[in-house]
Amino acid sequence: MEELQRAEPAGRGARGGGSVGRAARALKPVRLAEVEAPAVERLGTGILELDRVLGGGLVPGSVVLIGGAPGIGKSTLTTSALGNLAGAGRKVLYVSGEESAAQVKLRAERLGAQALRVPIVAETDLEAVLATLEAERPEACVIDSVQVLYDPALTGAPGSVGQVREVAGRLMRLSKERGVATLLVGHVTKEGSLAGPRVLEHLVDSVLSFEGERERAYRTLRALKNRFGSTNEVGVFEMGQEGLVEVEDASARFVAEATRAPGSVVLCAMEGSRPLLVEVQALVAPSELVPPRRVANGVDRSRLALVLAVLARHGGIGLGSSDVFVSVAGGVRVDEPGADLAIALALASAAKGTELVEDAPLAAFGELGLTGELRHAAHTDRRLAEAAKFGLANVVRPDDRVTTLRQALRAAAALGSRRKALHKAENNAKKMQFT
Ligand code: TYD
Ligand code: MG
Repeated sequence: MEELQRAEPAGRGARGGGSVGRAARALKPVRLAEVEAPAVERLGTGILELDRVLGGGLVPGSVVLIGGAPGIGKSTLTTSALGNLAGAGRKVLYVSGEESAAQVKLRAERLGAQALRVPIVAETDLEAVLATLEAERPEACVIDSVQVLYDPALTGAPGSVGQVREVAGRLMRLSKERGVATLLVGHVTKEGSLAGPRVLEHLVDSVLSFEGERERAYRTLRALKNRFGSTNEVGVFEMGQEGLVEVEDASARFVAEATRAPGSVVLCAMEGSRPLLVEVQALVAPSELVPPRRVANGVDRSRLALVLAVLARHGGIGLGSSDVFVSVAGGVRVDEPGADLAIALALASAAKGTELVEDAPLAAFGELGLTGELRHAAHTDRRLAEAAKFGLANVVRPDDRVTTLRQALRAAAALGSRRKALHKAENNAKKMQFT
């Protein structure tokens, strides 16, 4: 609980008899067709993955909140974006509340010459920041982070709900008035919500979430809310020695890295409008714990629980006394029902210790229903096309012949044994040549 200071609304006492205040003036409604909406030119940040997630670049006067765990690369991403904008002749400003100007410079040196052109102020006092923005009038600015700025007139500590709301509200007003595209950097708690300022999500125009595991190289950027674009776009980045690198051929990387061992299945996922192939790995081991371990990385825990239950009930594979680990390789997060079947096949393969397919990895997608039926996943053709593009000929998916989990398990096993038979025949042929 936190005490908030609240200003007394002026003019309340001076009310006339009715429910309408005396000072209020009636407005004139305008038909939507007649509303003037000039087409605005977006600011391309030069980071294609970021622009795509934003819906085609930054909209002047918009406020975008970028959330992510500490160390994920928020400052790196925003510094690069401003650097590119500065390089394109745009006026930008970086407000760093967390790090000193010298620290930001050290980072920018890794990012290259463009990033070093970004003007910076290191300040945490909201009034000073607003005055600077007013004086500089940048076209785009970054506030890193919204949780460290504070309004001295309020009592709460920086980062408290009252402070964060006030800070964001005032920055928002200024950016709307002056047409400044503002990127607010926000921290995310362990549980995944933007620390303190859930309120912010309602206030701002767009909320982007930067995810990934700190120890791994891959990062995904997705829009949770976007007033100027779709919320299903996802950008994939890799953290390198010289900042974040966009990964455009993400599928190729993940397929090349896919192991082909028991428990590995390639999932044909859709990340927004883009198909993405990722490797799902499963490990099943005898457990000494009651209840046994259920560890999910990159997939939702409750989805894993559902897949396990359907496997036990409708697939004849009960893993109630085993530890189960499922992870999406590369530290990517997949958040769609179409992942169910790949998880189920990976678990089945891990449980039996059999390789599904020997040469090319097995691919799969499809949603599992509670009664063991397979449901169609959206964008079947695009998923198949992506699989074909990377040489994955064996895709198990819901179709006319495969309508239940049992049939899918059988189809995957058949693919495996057909391959094995082929190999055997080849080996026999080789032996014949020798003799
Ligand atoms: P940072 O952008 O500071 O994260 P955030 O602002 O989200 O807290 O950087 C995150 C990590 O990335 C940091 O631990 C150092 C690393 N890093 C690289 O590996 N290569 C680079 O070129 C840069 C700039 C950072
Ligand atoms: Mg930072």
